[in-house]
Amino acid sequence: MSQSNVGDRRSFILTSGAVLAGATVCSGCSIFTSQAKPDIQRPATDGAFTLSAEEAGRLTAPGDTLRVTTPDGSMRIFLVRGQDGKLLALSMACTHWGSDVNYEAAKNQLVCPSHGSRFGLDGSVLEGPAGDPLDRYKVEEGFDGDGTPTGIRIILT
Ligand code: FES
Repeated sequence: MSQSNVGDRRSFILTSGAVLAGATVCSGCSIFTSQAKPDIQRPATDGAFTLSAEEAGRLTAPGDTLRVTTPDGSMRIFLVRGQDGKLLALSMACTHWGSDVNYEAAKNQLVCPSHGSRFGLDGSVLEGPAGDPLDRYKVEEGFDGDGTPTGIRIILT
């Protein structure tokens, strides 16, 4: 074995050990969580997100979802039209380590892709490791006389 192979192997072992040690120390860091790409980014004005008629039109059928965040990602809201037709707004951030949840239409539940926590559409924990429910927000929907959506307001307080 040449001297350079020994050096390469030693370097690999040291690097692997450093990565493993870093992963152990950094178990709550963002490399273990995931954030989904938002559908809409805008500032929350007067403590609320306001969606246009066109944006509201993307949430008309059961199972429709929309991800709305502030540009800095500090507020991350998941909108879902449940199978009963009710529109709900919940925090997108899993209460375990903060990954963004996804909607699983077949079970009408929110699921965290990182460690498998499951939440009901009321935000309640159905399966851990998450221990706390997702925050829920008040939603006001507007419709014209024909029942066409005119907008949505998500109140964040
Ligand atoms: S971040 Fe761990 S279950 Fe969601």
